[in-house]
Amino acid sequence: MRTFVAAVAAVLLLAVLGGIVLVYSGAYDVAANNPHWAVTRWVMETARMRSIKAHAAGIAAPPGLGDQMRIVMGTDHFAAHCAVCHGAPGVPKDDIAEGLYPQPPDLALTAKLYSDAELFWILKHGIKMTGMPSWSDHSDDELWATVAFLRKLDGMSEQDYGRLVQASMQMGGHHHHDESEPAADGHAGEHGEAAPAARDAHQP
Ligand code: HEC
Repeated sequence: MRTFVAAVAAVLLLAVLGGIVLVYSGAYDVAANNPHWAVTRWVMETARMRSIKAHAAGIAAPPGLGDQMRIVMGTDHFAAHCAVCHGAPGVPKDDIAEGLYPQPPDLALTAKLYSDAELFWILKHGIKMTGMPSWSDHSDDELWATVAFLRKLDGMSEQDYGRLVQASMQMGGHHHHDESEPAADGHAGEHGEAAPAARDAHQP
């Protein structure tokens, strides 16, 4: 028994030392154009899934999530902030998305892996060590609307998307409360932001 314990301790110690050597030696490749080892990928994907599920557990979706007004508002938000990386029906990803690792997934395919609450959590907080930003400076209303849009994305045609974008423009279109659109035009805070949004707080 005593030799068994000693052997386990020795193996653990070697693993820890090996890890430290790996980190300090610079042998680990952080290049974004060189895919993860299978074990790294497993650790990161499992940690992501478990973390999202655990953190979203207490979140409840608002009633009437799938209302047309919400979907239209979500389209506006998606077209302005998300399509650049994730693409949209008939809209290819922008250049900036091509070199990202991990790659921004096709949300028509992957949104169904998550509950409404989990999608909301992802949008609000983003995902560490990936290109997925946190949108916590946007109102919860906007984020739920974007979740409502994501729910419709699977099977959405280019024409359907175009109609939704049109509808959102008739609703007032997207406002970037930044230097190009002074608050004096009456748009500021129309989506209910409680405080000036950090992302847009850069001064002209
Ligand atoms: C700068 C690029 C970028 C932008 C902009 C961006 N994302 Fe992402 N997003 C990513 C990347 C990269 C991932 C993959 C993260 C991973 O693999 O863990 C991701 C992951 C996601 C996921 C999880 C999907 C999955 O398959 O696990 C959702 C949902 C998502 N994004 C929604 C959005 C929405 C909605 C917006 C707009 C509000 C947005 N993203 C804006 C890069 C981006």
